[in-house]
Amino acid sequence: MMYTSNLILLASLAIPSLAAYQPVWDINASHFFDNFTFVNSPDTFTNGFTQYVGIDEALSSGLAKINNGKVRLGVDSKNTYSTTSSGRKSLRLQSYGWFDNGLLVADFNHVPVAGCGMWPAFWVYQGEQQQGSYAEIDILENVNVHTANTHSFYTSEKCTINVQKGNLVPEKTTDCTWKSDGPSSQGCSFNAEEGTFNQPFNDQYRVVALQVESERIRIWHFKKTEVPADLSSANPNPDAWTKAPTVHITPKSCDFHKAFNHFYIIINITFCGSWAGDDFSNTNYAGQCKAKTGTSDCKSWVAGHPTDFTNTYFEFNSIKLFQRG
Ligand SMILES: *[C@@H]1O[C@H](CO)[C@@H](O)[C@H](O)[C@H]1NC(C)=O
Ligand SMILES: *[C@@H]1O[C@H](CO)[C@@H](O)[C@H](O)[C@H]1NC(C)=O
Ligand SMILES: *[C@@H]1O[C@H](CO)[C@@H](O)[C@H](O)[C@H]1NC(C)=O
Repeated sequence: MMYTSNLILLASLAIPSLAAYQPVWDINASHFFDNFTFVNSPDTFTNGFTQYVGIDEALSSGLAKINNGKVRLGVDSKNTYSTTSSGRKSLRLQSYGWFDNGLLVADFNHVPVAGCGMWPAFWVYQGEQQQGSYAEIDILENVNVHTANTHSFYTSEKCTINVQKGNLVPEKTTDCTWKSDGPSSQGCSFNAEEGTFNQPFNDQYRVVALQVESERIRIWHFKKTEVPADLSSANPNPDAWTKAPTVHITPKSCDFHKAFNHFYIIINITFCGSWAGDDFSNTNYAGQCKAKTGTSDCKSWVAGHPTDFTNTYFEFNSIKLFQRG
């Protein structure tokens, strides 16, 4: 009797066998600049103190370049700016390609470091609202001198989740629903493990992987010594990985396939603005930058201290996408 019911239970819990992942994108130094468009405008998105430059200026000034077979994307670290200008020159790239689901694997040689006022992000989203719908997943993001990555999920679908694994940011809930006129606390966010942002990432880590499926979303951070061997094969199998994910969520009130889809990759580095600016001095946050720089004015610090941003750059070995064949 016991035996039979266990068998039934096992059968009903078993994940249906899924087709193997197949390579779809391999974005690397050989053609990286064919795969992204550069936004050429001030950062009106987050009210940052940033002037995003177009591809011609990015390449001629060296903010974007191929360096020893790696793709380097950085910010101006030579010039000072007036605080009434649109801000320090930087980059915002958006992929031409988009995907609905799959395994996205970012292999970093370097992530942006140190500068008080910086706000770098590597993330995926639907683009400026697709007919009223919105979805976003932040893969690598934080501000200033923080040393742990954060992952936020936003969708315009009504969507609550079950957290299988992950450290929910205290002011957030398991409701990932986002509305353009909603409170700033909306969406669900998770703190990753210590060491996954800023210089500690560069010292130890290398790969961040995002898996988006209709029944689960997972994110992993791999140290240089932990990168699964099958990630360099054509058919990686996350179910066989021994490293636990940082975040593993499953749907409660929504269909992930509807709630999280049509993702473009965005890579941007902004300064100050809503998050980095508040965090710089606001006592609700740690306010370490105020202590470190002796000012609570993010803009004037960023405007006047170019060499603080020498290491505020991403360097990619590759960005790969696998989908089930
Ligand atoms: C770069 O990507 C192309 C396919 O997009 C692939 O053929 C090539 O092997 C990759 N280069 C490296 C160094 O992995
Ligand atoms: C990237 O660019 C290469 C070369 O132009 C192209 O073959 C490939 O399809 C592009 N991939 C994406 C995802 O845009
Ligand atoms: C990048 O741009 C998007 C808008 O497209 C914005 O929502 C996001 O906060 C920006 N992030 C950074 C780090 O600049």
